Amino acid sequence: TDSPVRITVTGGAGAIGYSLLFRIASGEMLGSDVPVQLRVLEVPQALDKLKGVAMELADCAYPLLEGVVTTADPAEAFDGAQHALLVGSKPRGQGETRGDLLKANAAIFAGQGRALAAHASADVRVTVTGNPANTNALTVSAVGESIDPRHITALTRLDHDRAVAQLAARAGVTAGEVRRMIIWGNHSDTQVPDLSHALVSGRPAAELVDADWIRDTFQPTVASRGASIIAARGASSAASAANATLSHVRDWMRGTGDDWVSMAVVSDGSYDVPAGLVSSFPVRCSNGEWEIVQGLELDDATREAIRASADELVAERAAVQELGLL
Ligand code: NAI
Repeated sequence: TDSPVRITVTGGAGAIGYSLLFRIASGEMLGSDVPVQLRVLEVPQALDKLKGVAMELADCAYPLLEGVVTTADPAEAFDGAQHALLVGSKPRGQGETRGDLLKANAAIFAGQGRALAAHASADVRVTVTGNPANTNALTVSAVGESIDPRHITALTRLDHDRAVAQLAARAGVTAGEVRRMIIWGNHSDTQVPDLSHALVSGRPAAELVDADWIRDTFQPTVASRGASIIAARGASSAASAANATLSHVRDWMRGTGDDWVSMAVVSDGSYDVPAGLVSSFPVRCSNGEWEIVQGLELDDATREAIRASADELVAERAAVQELGLL
């Protein structure tokens, strides 16, 4: 039989991990015919909890699951990894700013980037979910020079799927009827949800919803959805974040067909996003590679909003550079 695909997941004892690991093991990510091995990294103090999760994974008796490694050693976790889902990160503490969060996580992701470069498969594909996701991905790229920068991505798929859900609800259709949604920029509240190219049941969405709803309801609802979930649930989005992480990798590897998805990827200067930043774009995927959808017409407000989000990414990069980590 084929050797299993090695998938490393960090932060596996956390809330997202508790949904993500099981769905990967069931075959939902890479396909129902692809054996997988899970290599799960945690901090030492969470290893006992992680062992409990591994016991439950065993108890699911998934036919595709060929082993679960639990470890606090990044070298062991990333050994031979073909996919690295970097979910674990230090959460924002009481009274901490996004800047504090950036610095604490830059150190974590620099260490993991070095371990990835040293131990993972040469064609490893990296997906960063842990916040601040875009800049954490940039940190991995900066220290992991042997990894193809095009294989280091960050998650904006949850924002994308939230936007799809809002538009579908407004139009009175199911989410499957909505295509060609876009999230531009940073996974933060400067993100730019853009439905100007979206289709609802094949019709331009812009013909179904008015500009006031887009500006006053759609965009703020999508951009602040994470906070709304925390307010309602008392905990941050976990099942939906796991679903988005899985969908990101699934579509990257198995293709987007004639739809597109939003992924934060290294910019080549498209849409005036400075080259080298990790920013969200509409992408098409096939054969395990993505390409940015080119040639979309954007109105002035959207261009300006994309520029503002890119400015934020530049400032985040500068904050990390100040630490001397890059
Ligand atoms: P959680 O706090 O429940 O779990 C995080 C886990 O990561 C913990 O078990 C912790 O021990 C572990 N961890 C921390 N540092 C680590 C390290 N250096 N190496 C390995 N493991 C480490 O958090 P949850 O809810 O699972 O969220 C994880 C991350 O995902 C957070 O940063 C959160 O902000 C982010 N997130 C991102 C979203 C996105 O759309 N990009 C959406 C939702 C959450």
